[in-house]
Amino acid sequence: MDVEREKRLAAEAAALLVEDGMAVGLGTGSTVSAFLPLLAERGLRLRCVATSLRTEEEARAHGLPVEPFMGVTALDRLDLAVDGADQVARDGWVVKGGGAAHTREKLVAAAADRFVVIVSSDKLVERLRPPVPLELLAYGLASTLRRLDAVSLRDAPPSPDGNVIADYHGDVADPAALSAALSAMPGVVEHGLFPPWSTSEILVAHGEDVERIVPGE
Ligand code: 5RP
Repeated sequence: MDVEREKRLAAEAAALLVEDGMAVGLGTGSTVSAFLPLLAERGLRLRCVATSLRTEEEARAHGLPVEPFMGVTALDRLDLAVDGADQVARDGWVVKGGGAAHTREKLVAAAADRFVVIVSSDKLVERLRPPVPLELLAYGLASTLRRLDAVSLRDAPPSPDGNVIADYHGDVADPAALSAALSAMPGVVEHGLFPPWSTSEILVAHGEDVERIVPGE
């Protein structure tokens, strides 16, 4: 399996989904890095928002216009968002945040009419497994950590929103229950579990083919 080739194939398929005049959310990671030049090559008139400084800089370097997604005057909806993932299950559950951008990625995905996940075949899993990335508020961090089981702080810089990156290493057998429990925990800003209903389609490259998984179908 040539992972880089598969990333590019999935990225090519996603680039073809973008239409002139669209507002597009740009995810984070190496698969998105493959997507950005392919999108730029299409020469479309676009408005883009980025989920990380890395993506913003790469997008601009390829000539894509990136505008802020901060505050009340920013775009309030996107036509399409494209992002990578750390794990995808066939039932549509996705784990993201290996690059610590999952909070912004989840907001951009939620703003998009269509959220497309692009992955190489090594990301497809039978069942989700730990770790699940977390973003924690620095305020009250010691208390949050005491209330969370099986969580370790990641040796990573704070998120762009000033929060602490951590990982949950416990049981992931019931992602819906885990997602609800983490979301209900004060101090957890966001977690990296993306439910099936948040994703419109998952493009998985296998060798020279791209499989399209539509969660819920
Ligand atoms: C960043 C992410 C990435 O999309 C995820 O880690 C996949 O990255 P890559 O495309 O490099 O494998 O969620 O927070």
